[in-house]
Amino acid sequence: MNIDFTYQNPTRIHFGKSAMQYLPEELALYGKNVLLLYGRNSIKASGLYDAVMSDLQKAGKKVVELAGIKSNPTYAQVLQGAQLVREHQVDLILAVGGGSVIDCAKGISASAYCKQDPWTLYWEQQAPLANPVVPIGTILTMTGTASEMNGGSVITNDDKKLKLGRVFPLETMAPKFSILNPEFTYTVPKYQMISGIFDIFSHLMEQYFGGNDDCVSDYLLEGDMLALISAARAALKDPHDYEARSNIMWCATMGLNKILAVSKEQDWEVHMIEHQLGAYTDCAHGIGLAIISVPYYRAIYKYGLHRFVRYAKNIWHVNPEGKSDEQVALEGIDCLSKFIQELGIPQTLREVGATEEMLPLIAESTIKGGGYHVVTTEEVLEILKACF
Ligand code: NZQ
Ligand code: ZN
Repeated sequence: MNIDFTYQNPTRIHFGKSAMQYLPEELALYGKNVLLLYGRNSIKASGLYDAVMSDLQKAGKKVVELAGIKSNPTYAQVLQGAQLVREHQVDLILAVGGGSVIDCAKGISASAYCKQDPWTLYWEQQAPLANPVVPIGTILTMTGTASEMNGGSVITNDDKKLKLGRVFPLETMAPKFSILNPEFTYTVPKYQMISGIFDIFSHLMEQYFGGNDDCVSDYLLEGDMLALISAARAALKDPHDYEARSNIMWCATMGLNKILAVSKEQDWEVHMIEHQLGAYTDCAHGIGLAIISVPYYRAIYKYGLHRFVRYAKNIWHVNPEGKSDEQVALEGIDCLSKFIQELGIPQTLREVGATEEMLPLIAESTIKGGGYHVVTTEEVLEILKACF
């Protein structure tokens, strides 16, 4: 453990089939005014909206609603929510949905009482939080991002064609409580389910591919990857397999609540490229990540060969006998590619709406970083062309 750290995560998790029973006691901890935030129609179609409203009414809350939060939430929606918070003196933002709704809730919370332009301050300049925030509670309906237990808020500014992530401190911005009932994810369409599964897998790889150490986090990340592969295969066979869906849900929450990242150097370049792909195409986050991952890892594996060999052996059980390290590492990346195919994820950027003209614009606007190697604009462009 070479990097010192302080870790505290304030989110109280209620997990399982009975998790909703804790909503009334959580609501009782906050004032009267609640901003209820949700997406387009899934929570009304599933009946969850009625259940939540009933608890809010019984708790005597005055509810203001902001519906229609987009997948890949926009800055315009953040500003709309911030306005409602000020107008109604909101005491709690209750986000019911997936990562997009929860990320938007954090954006609203940070922006409502910000005296300057929040986009410039918090997403472009990444300035420290300098104003009061509004507490957030969540009811998760789609699993993948771990936004239910972290401080991340990824927002798309349509005018600027930028999708930027901001990681606010856990102690101020992580939800105060999150209700995780795996059964709520049964209605998630298959395309979104596999997107979420790959998002989780990507979070684990982004944290794994960095550093030369051999710390506890490396072993925990491997464990989470193995659990996810097994649960994903079971959920593909039977989407109503509770064991599988609950394991996927917990793999996701654990995958990015920052506990597996302590003392780790990390990568995150696949995410940086995908965010700009999303800004141009509005594609599902995990699908974009899957398309980019294989060409990205083929481009950078040599810089972190030892870790790619370990990944091939420990995650994909590649037999190293009679093979060079390079062959083993590449075989591991081939196994990743096969897993993406097994999930049924598209293989090319064309399939998610990218055009050839977009590629240089995406490459140029991508934030450049990386774990073992810092990529250049030209390298990002080559990666994009390789999966176009
Ligand atoms: O809008 P509704 O009707 O609710 O439909 C949603 C949406 O279309 C649907 N859905 C959600 N729960 C459902 C359901 N449909 C049926 N039944 C249910 N139970 O699923 C669609 C996708 O939802 P969304 O919230 O967009 O997906 P996800 O959770 O993957 O969130 C993606 C966003 O999170 C960001 C991504 O960039 C993207 O903007 N991320 C946030 C992170 C964080 N906070 O730490 C990290 C991630 O790396 C990621 O960047
Ligand atoms: Zn992600």
